[in-house]
Amino acid sequence: MQRFANKVAVVTGGGRGIGQEVAKKLASEGAKVAVVSRSESSCGKAAEAINAEFPGSAKAYAVDVADHEAVQALAKQIGDDLGTVNILINNAGVTRDGLLMRMKEEDWDTVLDTNLKGAFNTVKAFMRVLMKAEDPRIINIASVIGLIGNAGQTNYAASKAGLIGFTKSVARELAGRKVTCNAIAPGFITTDMTDELSDAIKEGVISKIPLAVFGETSDIAEAVAFLASSQARYITGQVLAVDGGMTM
Ligand SMILES: NC(=O)c1ccc[n+]([C@@H]2O[C@H](COP(=O)([O-])OP(=O)(O)OC[C@H]3O[C@@H](n4cnc5c(N)ncnc54)[C@H](OP(=O)(O)O)[C@@H]3O)[C@@H](O)[C@H]2O)c1
Repeated sequence: MQRFANKVAVVTGGGRGIGQEVAKKLASEGAKVAVVSRSESSCGKAAEAINAEFPGSAKAYAVDVADHEAVQALAKQIGDDLGTVNILINNAGVTRDGLLMRMKEEDWDTVLDTNLKGAFNTVKAFMRVLMKAEDPRIINIASVIGLIGNAGQTNYAASKAGLIGFTKSVARELAGRKVTCNAIAPGFITTDMTDELSDAIKEGVISKIPLAVFGETSDIAEAVAFLASSQARYITGQVLAVDGGMTM
């Protein structure tokens, strides 16, 4: 299926994990994809791997999404390089876990600046273009932690709950221009982010997942591709949990 022929997608945090898989999935169905990540080497390698499978489909951009001006410049550059953007995937995210009692201010700020302000920055930078694009879509990658909270992740939970509120408000503001905005709340997905967890924590988590396994990055990429497609035109302001039943 080529659901994204002639479409341009921007995937933040596309250098690794979920974002890389999302970028690959959209490219596999015809999109030209801007792969954005913090480091040059990460987005460069991801774009190279995607181009090896789908020649000419990916271009790398090393930008910190927390930097408002850099994201404005990024939007201009992507417009010049790839043309009108149809699909924006806000996936860049970080964790700086620790109990609130011991959490440093910089750990709070880094997580909120990346996970929440990063989405504000990109939506601000791309919204005018999206409002004029065909089948315009914004998809924000939140987390089940933004729905249910988690001890040791007050900063991360606040950023993802904030992202969900942001999603619903953007959906309401841009609905008149046919831009849909939805969130996906992944459960525990096998990536570098969850590889950091100890075996004991992983076992504890699995005991709370009805399907009793961690998800794969492709589980998220398939959900993103559906919400990004024209088939999802009547869905906006929703939060889709892709979590093995964890939050039902
Ligand atoms: N894995 C899970 O179980 C899980 C569950 C729920 C939600 N999520 C969410 O899903 C998203 C992707 O997670 P993941 O597990 O794939 O993470 P990951 O493997 O750690 O990859 C994160 C990506 O985000 C990029 N990034 C981080 N900070 C950035 C910044 N300031 N500016 C630009 N790019 C930045 C990284 O860039 P570099 O490669 O250059 O470092 C990397 O490409 C995150 O928002 C995460 O919160 C993940």
